[in-house]
Order: sequence, then structure tokens, then C-alpha cells
Amino acid sequence: MRQSIAKTNLPQHLYSGKVRDTYMLDEENLIMVSTDRISAFDVVMNQPIPGKGVILNSMSSFWLEKTKNIIPNHFVINLGDAFNKESFDFSVFENHIDEGIKKRSMIVKKAKRIDIECIVRGYLAGSAWTDYQKNKTINEKYFKENFSAAEKFSSPIFTPSTKAESGHDVPLSEKDGKNLIGEEMYNFLEKKSIEIYNFAHDFSLEKGIILVDTKFEFGTINDEIILIDELLTPDSSRYWDYNQHEIGTFPPAFDKQFLREWLLNTNWNMTYPPPEIPDNIINVTKDRYLESYERLTNKNLII
Ligand SMILES: Nc1ncnc2c1ncn2[C@@H]1O[C@H](COP(=O)(O)OP(=O)(O)O)[C@@H](O)[C@H]1O
Ligand SMILES: [Mg+2]
Repeated sequence: MRQSIAKTNLPQHLYSGKVRDTYMLDEENLIMVSTDRISAFDVVMNQPIPGKGVILNSMSSFWLEKTKNIIPNHFVINLGDAFNKESFDFSVFENHIDEGIKKRSMIVKKAKRIDIECIVRGYLAGSAWTDYQKNKTINEKYFKENFSAAEKFSSPIFTPSTKAESGHDVPLSEKDGKNLIGEEMYNFLEKKSIEIYNFAHDFSLEKGIILVDTKFEFGTINDEIILIDELLTPDSSRYWDYNQHEIGTFPPAFDKQFLREWLLNTNWNMTYPPPEIPDNIINVTKDRYLESYERLTNKNLII
């Protein structure tokens, strides 16, 4: 079997993002493949992280199942499981779907995306920390004077951003967010995002992991609003080890932080092409992704 899958080439291609390749299965359903690609500073690296796609697909499935009572979502079935059932017609995909693809893919309901990234933060970190340091605001809202790095908010905050077609996403003030998608929709997405965050935060904490912040995407099918995209993976979320959390400093996150730090120490200008990543950085990154999965789910993963 292939060790890594960086690119896929199935029929009925619809869309390729930085990490995932999406295909039309039929009128209502998509096949979403999480590849082993990794991006840092919005640039996809030349080398994949072996098995990363398996970890991301399994982690999303895990959380989509756990949160479906809070809000329905797009998950239908993991691709591997679908092959054992008769419900889908895979004839056009014959010879294109091997074990490696199966382990990295899920079938999801095709939705119309709501163009806003629903970010929830429980602790002060990342771009919100940068924003706060500049003018004591986060998404144009004032916060108290003496917040420290990595400090927990008294309750989680909703800090949406635009879903940019290209380039970086821009934070939205509450007013701009409401103008963009309407007040009723904004309030609903805020409420649901905070509910999912709270559930996942408390669940993770029992496993010794802090869910610092995360990003959700929602979509509509007919008039129903559902949760779409990846869910609570290290690519869409910042997770810290509870034992390493100390106010005033940022512990390493369970994602590509080691890769990012290594890149910052090269003289790379953050545009394509990226430098070649050494094997030890690839391995540490893979181990971090895997550790987060195994600790959160109590399951082992064969990748
Ligand atoms: N159920 C769905 N229906 C339609 N589009 C979806 C669904 N789930 C996710 N998407 C979209 O598919 C894309 C996933 O690919 P990804 O690699 O994450 O892209 P990006 O680099 O744009 O984040 C995203 O644009 C996401 O909004
Ligand atoms: Mg994405």
C-alpha cells in the first residue's frame, strides 16, 4: 500500500483545497478525501506527512458523530464502510479507490456553504493575541486591560472571519458579520458554535487536552442549516496539553507548530516554493497529530 497520498486523481473532480480533494459521488453526495498534504503559512509543502489524512478523516468522523445532537451535520458514512453496503453506485470510481483512499475519505451531503468562518476561542492565543496586543481589541471589540497570553476567557468568544477565496481570511466585527449573513443567521451560528465548542472543550479536558480555539463551517441543504467541513481536527483547531498550560506562555500546539517553528528559522520568504522539510520534522509532526487523535478518542489508528 502507498505510504503517503499527496494527490488524488478520481473521476468527477469538484474542488481541491490545500488539504482536501472533493469529488461528486452523485447529485446529493460528495466524496471528500483528506490527503497527507500539509500547509504552513498558507503554502502547501512539497512533502506530505505520511498518514496525516487518515488521522484527519478519523478525527473528523469521531467528532461529527459526537456532536450530531447539537446540530445535524454533513457526515453520511466513511468511504471504507460504504463499500461494504449496497447504497451507493461506485461504478465510475472503479480502479480509482484503493485502501489508502478509503481510509482517508468520507461521504458527505453536498451543501451550499455559508461564507463565514465561525471561530470560537476559549483562551487568548493566535491571531486574537496579536490583535489584542495592538489595541486591546479582538474583532474590533474591546477587552479588559490586563489579559495575559494563554489566559482563559470567562466564557468562550465568537470571532468569525471571512472565508476568503484566496489569500488570508479577515476577522469580522459583529456588525459586519451580521451585515454579511443576516442577524438571525449570525445569532444562530454563534449559539451553535459556542455549544459545540463547550461540549468539545469539556470532553477534551477529561483527556488532559485543552481545546484552545477552533473553526467551524456551516452550510444549507434546502433550508436546513447543517455543520459541514472538517471538525475539531488539529488543522482547524488549536489543542494544548493541559499539563503544559501556564498563563503568560504558549505551549506547543498539537499540530504543525514544530514545522512552523522550523520554517521560521530558515530564511524562507513564505511564498511558493517552500523549502524541503527534514525527516525528523516530518516524523515529529506526524507523531503530534497521531498523539492528539489517540488521546482524544482512546483508540489506536493503523495508518
Ligand atoms: N458538505 C459540504 N458541501 C459543500 N462544500 C463543503 C462541504 N464540506 C466542506 N466543504 C468545502 O470544501 C472545501 C474543503 O477543502 P479544504 O482543503 O479544507 O479547502 P480550503 O483550502 O479552502 O480550506 C472547503 O472549501 C469547504 O468549505
Ligand atoms: Mg479548509
